[in-house]
Amino acid sequence: MNGSASGWEKRQLNKYFFNTEPIPRLSCHDPLAEELIAQEKPVVLTDTKLCDSALKWDLDYLAENMGSEKYMVFVSKDNKFKYYDEAKIRQYSSNFIPPTRRVDMSFPEFVRKLKEWKEGDERIYLQQGLNNTVGQAIVMDFLQFNWEWLNVLQKKNNWGPLTSNLLLVGMESNITPVHYDEQQNFFCQLVGYKRCILFAPEYYDRLYPYPVYHPHDRQSQVDFENPDFERFPGMTHLEGVETVLGPGEVLHIPMYWWHQIESLPNRGHTVSVNFWYKGGPTEKVEHPLKPQQKLAVMRNIEKMLLEALKDPAEVGPLLRALVIGRYTGQVAEGQEGKL
Ligand code: FUM
Ligand code: FE
Repeated sequence: MNGSASGWEKRQLNKYFFNTEPIPRLSCHDPLAEELIAQEKPVVLTDTKLCDSALKWDLDYLAENMGSEKYMVFVSKDNKFKYYDEAKIRQYSSNFIPPTRRVDMSFPEFVRKLKEWKEGDERIYLQQGLNNTVGQAIVMDFLQFNWEWLNVLQKKNNWGPLTSNLLLVGMESNITPVHYDEQQNFFCQLVGYKRCILFAPEYYDRLYPYPVYHPHDRQSQVDFENPDFERFPGMTHLEGVETVLGPGEVLHIPMYWWHQIESLPNRGHTVSVNFWYKGGPTEKVEHPLKPQQKLAVMRNIEKMLLEALKDPAEVGPLLRALVIGRYTGQVAEGQEGKL
């Protein structure tokens, strides 16, 4: 994979312990692109014109037009911005220490901090849902998104409603560590380059998600930069897919697919917008269930046990008693760890 013609080079990418294949890059008019979306496989679409009206959203334009509202900015001591659920901290984990802290600031304030940043300072990452407080120019750009194309896809794939558009403005080298989301995502790159590494939902038990009650629910416990193979031996068998997404390109991140997103080093800041859609209802359940359906079942079991037992500390022992020596047994070499 080399994108030097489009502004990045392979040697800029972190080296990890797993292999990856490239994610297909296709025209949105290619029937294969729609097939991949329908099969819930990732694809990069190079010519959707989805957010062409927002390709001008550089820092100065946004500072001028985002309005005077305060936006959510995460502050981190290192380059990682691992998501945590504030409600789950309040409910179950009052002693949890968040890896980043949230500071709300106006867009001009954020831009000033970005421009003044120097090596050794805390890093920042703005992550804010687009809402009706933005200025008129942003609203006009938003209205010009290629909604026609999106609406057709939404209907064809029987997805639910668009739930939100998240605006992400990050520094070079910022990393959103590997996690999965429970919605379909069209991830649209506007400014700068992002490396997107994805793993299929069947890698659930090789990426060791935190328990559902945990503030880091849906995040992997694995750190690609400092892998602990003793604690997480299954990750030796990981195989991913990846791409570097540039301005104007759109990546479909299917629901429940693991993804790690990295702003490339030494390439300046990045601006992206994502489009989250609720998954559609399953019309006809076929067996065996797909890995993503099994994942949803497992999440429900965890939630149910928590609801019944109330105390997260009781869930593990109960599951262990249920499974060990009853549902566990010899498995064929190389078969363990696949859903
Ligand atoms: O950093 C990011 O752009 C993350 C996006 C996502 O997880 O959807
Ligand atoms: Fe995500």
